[in-house]
Amino acid sequence: MQRLQSTFKMPSILASTLPLNSGVIIPRLHLGVYMTSGRECSSAVTYALAAGYRAVDSAEWYANEAEVGSAINAFLASVQNQAGLKREDIWFTTKLKSNLSYDATRKSIKQSIKKSGLGYIDLYLLHSPYGGKQKRLECWRAVEDAVREGECRAGGVSNFGVKHLQELLDSKPKLVPAINQIEVHPFNTQSAITSFCAQHNIVVEAYAPLARSLRVNHPKIKELSKKYSCTWAQLMVKWGLQKGYIVLPKSVNEQRIKSNAEVDGFEITEDDMKVLDGLDEKLVTDWDPTDAD
Ligand SMILES: NC(=O)c1ccc[n+]([C@@H]2O[C@H](COP(=O)([O-])OP(=O)(O)OC[C@H]3O[C@@H](n4cnc5c(N)ncnc54)[C@H](OP(=O)(O)O)[C@@H]3O)[C@@H](O)[C@H]2O)c1
Repeated sequence: MQRLQSTFKMPSILASTLPLNSGVIIPRLHLGVYMTSGRECSSAVTYALAAGYRAVDSAEWYANEAEVGSAINAFLASVQNQAGLKREDIWFTTKLKSNLSYDATRKSIKQSIKKSGLGYIDLYLLHSPYGGKQKRLECWRAVEDAVREGECRAGGVSNFGVKHLQELLDSKPKLVPAINQIEVHPFNTQSAITSFCAQHNIVVEAYAPLARSLRVNHPKIKELSKKYSCTWAQLMVKWGLQKGYIVLPKSVNEQRIKSNAEVDGFEITEDDMKVLDGLDEKLVTDWDPTDAD
């Protein structure tokens, strides 16, 4: 992953990485592929890799692990891969659909690896805390063992609220989750969860970082995009990056995929970051399991 920094000409954020609590290095910007399937998913992944993205966020639930994996493998083998990238230069995240049992989780991980055709998973997440305490902890043990056995390079959780994270830490896990993937953007800043993650060295991945384009015409977003001469989407991506999060914008459009990563040329001031934080209205774009039992 590191060597990309010297071999690629692309927006520098696409070569930017950060270390997880296990020492594994992860890219800062990933392509999201929720609600994409078939050809649309394959082409989005191909556009993204050609634009310099090095990470894709998939899930068992999205039913596109096969498309993501085959688009990655096809890109690596293609003439477009002028830099000679290898499998280890691309980050593949996928997630467990349901917290059922230790054995079912181990089986799901193996199936995701097989479907993707990528040989291993870079980051495996419990997609949600649903299922109750016993199942959450049991499924987490399965992720720990899959990491230990090399099926996954890193493990984490998604949609975990503070109580779920605390419960996991109280269970004295062999592996502290490296990531909590949650909905985060200026219209839902999730300050309680993000502070807890910062205290415990758990990196936040910001999903729905564009708030699903539901606030494109918000006057503050318009005003600040104009001030920074950027698009509303670039402003939202930059906010997440400046917060220190890994950001996962989704698009299937080639131009938008490129443009969402072109955020090197400006820095949001501290005052404007506060203005953006002030837009919080706890907007939920999809689901919010962070308070589940
Ligand atoms: N763990 C979880 O429970 C969870 C839940 C939701 C999402 N996620 C992850 O996070 C990723 C991103 O979240 P999301 O897909 O919900 O929403 P998002 O990234 O906030 O927004 C995606 C929407 O914005 C549009 N868009 C993207 N770039 C644009 C641009 N520059 N100008 C105008 N419109 C633009 C996309 O349309 P086009 O495609 O047509 O460009 C799409 O409709 C997902 O794909 C998934 O990987 C995880």
